[in-house]
Amino acid sequence: MLKKSYKCVKVEQQKDGITWVTFNRPEKRNAMSPAFHIEMMDVLTRLETDPDTKVVILTGAGTAYSAGQDLKEYFRETDGKPEKKAQAGAASRWRSDKLWMYSKPTIAMVNGFCIGGAFTHCICSDFAIAANEAVFCLSEVNWGILPGGMVSKFVSDTMSPRDAMFYACTGRTFDGKKAAQMGMVNLSVPLKQLRKETLKLAKELLEKNQNVLRGTKHAIRATQNMDWNAAADYLAAKQAEIKMRDASRGHDSYAEGIRQFIDEKKYKPVFSPYIGAGEGKSDEEDGAKKKAAAARATIKTTRAKKAAKKTAKKTAAKKTAKKAAKKAAKKTVAKKSAAKKTAKKAVRKTAAKKVAKKTVAKKSAAKKTAKKAVRKTVAKKGAKKGAKKTAKKTAKKTVARKKVAKKAVRRR
Ligand code: ACO
Repeated sequence: MLKKSYKCVKVEQQKDGITWVTFNRPEKRNAMSPAFHIEMMDVLTRLETDPDTKVVILTGAGTAYSAGQDLKEYFRETDGKPEKKAQAGAASRWRSDKLWMYSKPTIAMVNGFCIGGAFTHCICSDFAIAANEAVFCLSEVNWGILPGGMVSKFVSDTMSPRDAMFYACTGRTFDGKKAAQMGMVNLSVPLKQLRKETLKLAKELLEKNQNVLRGTKHAIRATQNMDWNAAADYLAAKQAEIKMRDASRGHDSYAEGIRQFIDEKKYKPVFSPYIGAGEGKSDEEDGAKKKAAAARATIKTTRAKKAAKKTAKKTAAKKTAKKAAKKAAKKTVAKKSAAKKTAKKAVRKTAAKKVAKKTVAKKSAAKKTAKKAVRKTVAKKGAKKGAKKTAKKTAKKTVARKKVAKKAVRRR
C-alpha cells in the first residue's frame, strides 16, 4: 500500500488490486508542470513493485484528462535553464518509456480534454477508454511547435497516416467516438458510464495470471519494431521467462491451464481464465479449492440454465406449432362448412329453378288446355250453327221437294 501523498497527483487503492492515479491540477486543466512529472514518475515507480497494485488506471480530476504540457511552468520557466529543462524532460518520460513497458497493465480513462503532450500517456497506456464527450486536440501547430516530444511518432504509429497528418497539421479537435474510430482509444462510452466501463476492463484483467499478462503485453509492444527472426527469438525467451516467474512462486500456468481444461473439465479457455489464475495458484491450493467448486457449480448452473432455456424454447415452439395446427384445422373446417353451405345454396337454387320451370310448364299447359277448351267450345258452337243451317237447308229442300211433288200431282 502506497503511504506517500502528493500535491499534483491523487493515488487511491482499491482492495482488489486496482489503483487509481488521478492527475490533480483541475484548476489548470491538469496541465503537466515539472513538479507534476516528478511526482508521476515517483508514483508509477512505486506502484510497479507495490504488491497491492495489480492494475493502474490513469485519469484526470475535473473537466480535463490533461491539457498537455504546462506552457508556463514546463516551457517558459525552464527556458535558459538547461538543468531544470533536462530534469523536467527526464521526469516526463513516465508517459512514454515508463508506461510503454510497464510491469502491470495500465488503462487511460480519458474523461475530458486530452491535448498535445497528453496524447503520449493516452497512447502509451496499454488500454484507453474515452468518454464520448472527451475533446482531443494536437494544438501545437496553433502555437508554434511540432506535436510535443514523441507525439508525432506516436500518432503516426497509432492512427492512419492520413488522420495523423490531418489532425497534426490542422489542430482540429475530435471527440471520443472519433478517437475510438481512429484506433487511438479502445472504445468510447458516454461520460456517465466511463468509470463503470473502465472498472469492468480492470476487473477482467485482474482475473488473468499476472505473469502471463505481463509477458503478453511486453510481447505485443516489443515485437512492433522487430523483424521475424528477432521477434521469434524474443517471444521464445519471453515464454521461458513466464515459466521461470511462475516457478519462482511454485506455479506453472501452462500445465495448470491445460490440466483444468483437458483432464478436469473445470473451465473453458474461450470464456474465462483457469481457476486460480488471478492469484497464480493451482486450484488444489488453499482458497482455490473453494473457487474451483464455485466455478464448477457455476458451470453446472449455466449448463442447467441453458438446458432449461432450450426446453422452454422447444415447449414454446411446440405450443406455437399446436396453435398453428389448430388454426389451420379451424380454417379447414370453416372452409368445408362454407363449401357445404355454398353447395346447399346451389342445390336449393337448382331445386327452385326446377320448381319455377315446372310452374311455368304447368301454367303454359293450363293455358294450352284453356285455349283448346275455348277452341272446342267455339267448334261446338260452329257445329251447332252448321247443323242448324243444314237442318234449315234440309227443311227448305224438303219444302221445295214437297212443292215440286204437289205441282207434279196437279199436273197429272
Ligand atoms: N498550460 C498552462 N496553463 C494552462 C494550460 C496549459 N497547457 N491549459 C490550461 N491552462 C490554464 C489556463 O491558463 C487557465 O489558467 P488561469 O486560471 O490562471 O487563467 C486555467 O488553466 C483554465 O484554463 P481555461 O482556458 O480557462 O479553461 P477552459 O476550460 O476554458 O479551456 C482548454 C480548456 C481548451 C484546454 C484551454 O485551457 C486550452 O486551450 N489550453 C491549452 C492547451 C494546450 O495547447 N496545451 C499544450 C499542448 S502542446 C504540448 O503539450 C507539448
